[in-house]
Order: sequence, then structure tokens, then C-alpha cells
Amino acid sequence: MGRRLPQAFFALSLLALALIVAAVWQASTPSWKTYQRQFLQLEAQGEPNAAAKAAVLATPLEIHQVLLPGLQRVDRCTTCHLGVDDPTMKNAPEPFRYHVGLGTNVPSKFGCTICHGGQGLATDQKNAHGNVDFWQTPLLAKDYIRASCGRCHKEGDIPGVPELAEGRHLFETQGCRGCHKLDGVGGSIGPDLSEEGASQRSPEWLEKHFLTPSVVSPGSAMPNFHFTREQARALTYYMLSLTNQDMGTYYSSLRTIPSSSYGRELFVEKNCIVCHAIGGVGAKVGPDLMGVTQRHSREWLDEQLVNPQLVYPGSAMPEYDLDTNSRKALVAYLATATSEDAQLILSGKKSTLTPEDAAIEAGKSNFARFGCAGCHGTELQGGVPNPNAQGGQVPSLLHLSDDYTKDEVIEVIRNGRMPPLDNASGPTPPLYMPSWKHLLSEEDIHEIVEFLWSKQQKAKDSW
Ligand code: HEC
Ligand code: HEC
Ligand code: HEC
Ligand code: HEC
Ligand code: HEC
Ligand code: HEC
Repeated sequence: MGRRLPQAFFALSLLALALIVAAVWQASTPSWKTYQRQFLQLEAQGEPNAAAKAAVLATPLEIHQVLLPGLQRVDRCTTCHLGVDDPTMKNAPEPFRYHVGLGTNVPSKFGCTICHGGQGLATDQKNAHGNVDFWQTPLLAKDYIRASCGRCHKEGDIPGVPELAEGRHLFETQGCRGCHKLDGVGGSIGPDLSEEGASQRSPEWLEKHFLTPSVVSPGSAMPNFHFTREQARALTYYMLSLTNQDMGTYYSSLRTIPSSSYGRELFVEKNCIVCHAIGGVGAKVGPDLMGVTQRHSREWLDEQLVNPQLVYPGSAMPEYDLDTNSRKALVAYLATATSEDAQLILSGKKSTLTPEDAAIEAGKSNFARFGCAGCHGTELQGGVPNPNAQGGQVPSLLHLSDDYTKDEVIEVIRNGRMPPLDNASGPTPPLYMPSWKHLLSEEDIHEIVEFLWSKQQKAKDSW
């Protein structure tokens, strides 16, 4: 009996504590109605007289939602974030502040979650912001929101988001596809990355993983690429942008933003410089394009690129099959092109390649594209650790010609090979040479071997 009393007292104080915590919790996460009332107060402050104030305050409270069938979602964020499209709310506290920089991507067309993550249907802050166990994509931290731009703008540059183009470039040149599939192409030693941006991986995890894979994935077979912080950030952006989500045509219509840098790429790729000069630099078959955007309207120029014959009957200029954004991009480039840049374009142009050199070039790009570099190194130097394989690492490809004929190497690439074990009773080495015959044509393989042979260092070099 003597011990019951303190126990009951203890239980009661626990209960009281729980009630206090609950009350504080309630107060700290007000309902959407509370926010709407606060917002009406803010709006009423701007009204000239009492009647107008009263009218504003009498606005019924209701859930606001944006239906986005094209993005397969319904976003109710504007139930609390009430001032996103109201410039007078520029200095208002959150969640009422005006959203700067949305530009043409207005809330009514895009909602919020496509860029921010979170749970569109929820109407309380914790659930809406996605900070709950079952929700895989909580709000992205401020530093990473721009990664989402790449969900729709999948190619070329995005103004203000250099990370995405940089990350894509690293992915295609560092050999990631050797171990990872993306959109169906690549190896299977690491996970498929086609949906990485919709997985539960946080940006922080991804960035740490790129800096040193084994820190967050102990014993990982993924090599440490010794990326800089900026490179790890760029790859993280790229990963976050990867989703296979079906989007309505409107949303996917702008895969490429018609920026002048994309226009320059096209100008180089289509070889416009073989007929046109810019500021006197280049050829004189067609008119000098310096200042052409001042001589002609955008519509005229667009027409000229669609159908030169229509503008100039008998024109020597070829008809290019360019989509609307590509034409816009070319015009954007022509508006900024300089003779110095034309000089750069001219000097960057390779002289015509011999068939042998062309095969080597093609082999080099296949080597990068199919991810051989991920295991064998961008310089073919090997060295990626492969525990319990003989030699303990993936072999260098710089001395193949000492041990093999070209045909033998073709065989290895075609059929793959398991590395012999260092210790027969030890574990299987994580990395093996995949078979490529289902992904690479015979011609691809021949080209790769030509490339490899162009890099062989004779045994005497290493004496
Ligand atoms: C119940 C009201 C409410 C709803 C619904 C709501 N928010 Fe918020 N949000 C807030 C409040 C309040 C803040 C102010 C910051 C704070 O106190 O955490 C905020 C802050 C934010 C911030 C900036 C600060 C941060 O935490 O990163 C973002 C971004 C944001 N909300 C996005 C969203 C998105 C996207 C949705 C819809 C999925 C949403 N919010 C739905 C109330 C809400
Ligand atoms: C097209 C993509 C996009 C859409 C759609 C979008 N936002 Fe944003 N939002 C951003 C970016 C990018 C930033 C970061 C701006 C910066 O760095 O200052 C941002 C910033 C914010 C912030 C401030 C975050 C902070 O930590 O200070 C809030 C709050 C916010 N958005 C809420 C919303 C809400 C609510 C919606 C829906 C009505 C929405 N956003 C729609 C891209 C978007
Ligand atoms: C849900 C898909 C989607 C997302 C996410 C998205 N955009 Fe867009 N963006 C579009 C579409 C569609 C248009 C064309 C809008 C129109 O004209 O109706 C566009 C237009 C643009 C334009 C104007 C292009 C022109 O015609 O000159 C720019 C710049 C742009 N977006 C940048 C961004 C940035 C930066 C982000 C990230 C903060 C972003 N976008 C996020 C789909 C998207
Ligand atoms: C997932 C990692 C991985 C990828 C991707 C990979 N390799 Fe290999 N490769 C290996 C391993 C491990 C060996 C060693 C096999 C052995 O010891 O028998 C090897 C062996 C080789 C060899 C024989 C080298 C020797 O000295 O015996 C050649 C040639 C080769 N790879 C070329 C390629 C080419 C070309 C590609 C791209 C099409 C490629 N590899 C992609 C892991 C890989
Ligand atoms: C085979 C030569 C040739 C090539 C290649 C060529 N053009 Fe032309 N272009 C011409 C000629 C010739 C004209 C003069 C008008 C005519 O006869 O059509 C012209 C006219 C133009 C004009 C109108 C200039 C003016 O002041 O009236 C523009 C703009 C233009 N070209 C852009 C381009 C772009 C951009 C490319 C690359 C995508 C390109 N051209 C490729 C031959 C060429
Ligand atoms: C030699 C094979 C190999 C190469 C090359 C490689 N990875 Fe990996 N990667 C793996 C393996 C194995 C895992 C799973 C273990 C882990 O999480 O580290 C992995 C995991 C990942 C993950 C985490 C996936 C998840 O959500 O679990 C990402 C993201 C990733 N790799 C991206 C890349 C990128 C980008 C590159 C190129 C810069 C690359 N990888 C090159 C083998 C490789």
C-alpha cells in the first residue's frame, strides 16, 4: 500500500506532462483555418475603411486546390500559402509570402509539389510538408529545389541551374552506365537509376555518397571517383531530377529551353558556318549573320529557318527539320553571336577524319557511353578495388596488346568474364566483366577495340 501512492502520483504527473506537450503541439501547428484567418487580417490591413475591412474578414474559409491532371496530382498547398501570386505580399511572413521568380511557371499551371516535393492533398503542415514516415518525398531543402527543373527540361541548359547540365555531362563521361541502367541502357551491378529522383534517398545522402560511397553504404562496390564538392552537388541535382513519371504533353513540351547556348550547339552541329560568316568570320555563300535579328523580325527569321524556299525562291540554304524550340534557340544565339565566337567555332571544327581515326573516335565515345570507364577508368588505368579478385582490382586496359590479340579482346567484350578468385574459399568479387553482346553491335565492339589499341603502351615503356 505504501508504494502505491508514489506510483499513482508518478502516473498522474506523466499524464499531465503528456497533456502539456499535446497542448503545445496543437498551438505550434495551427490548422489551415487559423492561417486563413491570419491572412484575411493581413489583407484587411490594406483596406481603406471599416466596411471594406469587415467584408474581407467575412470571406468564407475554404480549402484551395489546384487540379493538375497533366501532372497526376492535386495540390492544396495554397490553402495556407495564400500570397504566392500576390506581389503585395512580398514582405509578408511565411506561409503568406509572394513567390518570386516563378515567371511563366505560374502556380495555377504547375501547382507546388512538382518542384518542392511534399504531399499535395494534405491540409496540415506536417503532412503537407511530407515529414511523415510513409511519405517518400518530403519538401526539398532550399539548396536543392532547382534540381526539379530537370524533371521537365531534360536537355540543354536551364538558365540559373548550371548543375543539371554539369551532372548530366559527368554521368555520360565518367562511366556510370557501366554499372547502372538509366532509361534502359547500362549495366546491372548497381541499382537502376531511372527513378532515383522519386526514391527515398535524401539530397544529403546522395551528396555524401558521391563524395565517398562507403561512408553511407559500407562496403559499397561503387568506386570513389574523388569528385569535388561542386561535382557531387551537380550529380545530386541530376539524380533528383530523374523520374519516369508520365507528364501531360503540355508539361513535357519544353524538354529543351530555347537558350542561346543551346542555339550555339545547333549552329555548330548543323554547320551553318560553312555558308555564313558572323562579323566577317566564316564563309560567304549566304549573308553575314551579324545583326540579322535587327534586320528581320523573329517571325520572319522563324519562317526562313522553316522554309528558306518560301522566303527566297531558289535558295541555296537547306531546309532543316528543326522544332519550334530549336528555331527559337538559333534565333536567340544569332542575337548574341560575335565574330570572336565564330572564330572559336571555326577553330573547334575538326579537319576531316580518316576512316581509321573515325572508328577510333566512335570507339572512344562508345567506351564513355556504355560505361566502361566506370570500372576501367577514364584513362583506361584500371585500379578500382575489387576485393578477392586476383590482383585485387579491375585491370588496366593499357597493356592488352602484350597479352592478347584483337580477336581475343573482342571475345572478352562480347561474352564477359568472371575474374579468377584470389582466395578460392573467399567471397565472390563484387565486380565482374559484363557480357556486352546484347547491348553493343559487332561494329560497336570493333570500334571500341580500335580505340583500345590506339591507347596501348608497349611493354618497353614500363621497363
Ligand atoms: C497547414 C498550412 C500549410 C500547408 C497546407 C502547407 N504549408 Fe508550407 N508552410 C506553412 C508554414 C506555417 C510555413 C512557415 C515555415 C515554418 O514555420 O515551418 C511553411 C513553409 C513552407 C516552405 C519554406 C520553409 C521550409 O519548411 O522549407 C515551403 C518550401 C513550403 N512551405 C512548401 C509547401 C508545399 C509545397 C505545400 C503543399 C504540399 C505546403 N507548403 C503546404 C504552412 C503550410
Ligand atoms: C517551377 C518550380 C516551382 C514551383 C512550381 C513552385 N516553386 Fe516554390 N520555389 C522554387 C524555387 C526554385 C525556390 C527557391 C528560390 C530561392 O532560392 O530563393 C522556391 C522557394 C519557395 C519558398 C521559400 C523557401 C525558403 O526556404 O525560403 C516557398 C515558401 C515556396 N517556394 C512555396 C511554393 C508554393 C506554396 C508553391 C505552389 C503554389 C510553389 N512554391 C511552387 C520553385 C518552385
Ligand atoms: C512540370 C514541368 C516543368 C518544371 C518542373 C519546370 N518547367 Fe520551366 N517550363 C515548362 C513549360 C511547359 C514551359 C512553357 C510555358 C509556357 O510557355 O506555357 C516552361 C517554360 C520555362 C522557361 C521559358 C522558356 C522560353 O520559352 O523562353 C524557362 C526559362 C523555364 N521554364 C525555366 C524553368 C526553371 C528554372 C525551372 C525550375 C525552377 C522550371 N522551368 C521548372 C515546364 C516546366
Ligand atoms: C562492372 C565493371 C566493368 C565494366 C562496366 C566493364 N568491365 Fe571490363 N572488366 C571488368 C573486370 C572485373 C575485368 C577482369 C576480368 C578478369 O579478370 O577476367 C574486366 C576485363 C576486361 C578486359 C580484359 C582485360 C584483361 O587484362 O584481361 C577487357 C578488354 C575489358 N574488360 C574491356 C571492357 C570494355 C570495352 C567495357 C565497356 C564496354 C568494359 N570492359 C566494361 C569489369 C568491368
Ligand atoms: C548551303 C549553304 C547554307 C547553309 C548550310 C545555311 N545557310 Fe542560311 N542562307 C544561305 C543563303 C544562300 C542565304 C541567302 C538567302 C537565300 O538564298 O535563301 C541564307 C540566308 C539565311 C538567313 C537570312 C539572312 C538574311 O539576312 O536574309 C538566315 C537567318 C540564315 N540563313 C540562317 C542559317 C542558319 C541558322 C543555318 C544553320 C542552321 C544556315 N543558315 C545554314 C545558305 C546557307
Ligand atoms: C563499378 C560499378 C559502379 C560504377 C562505375 C558506379 N556505380 Fe553507383 N553504385 C554501384 C553499386 C554497387 C551501388 C549500390 C551500393 C551503394 O549504395 O553504394 C551504387 C549506388 C549508387 C547510387 C545509390 C542508388 C540508391 O538509391 O541506392 C547512386 C545514386 C549511384 N550509384 C550513382 C552513380 C553515378 C552517378 C555514377 C557515375 C559517376 C556511378 N554510380 C558509378 C556501382 C557503381
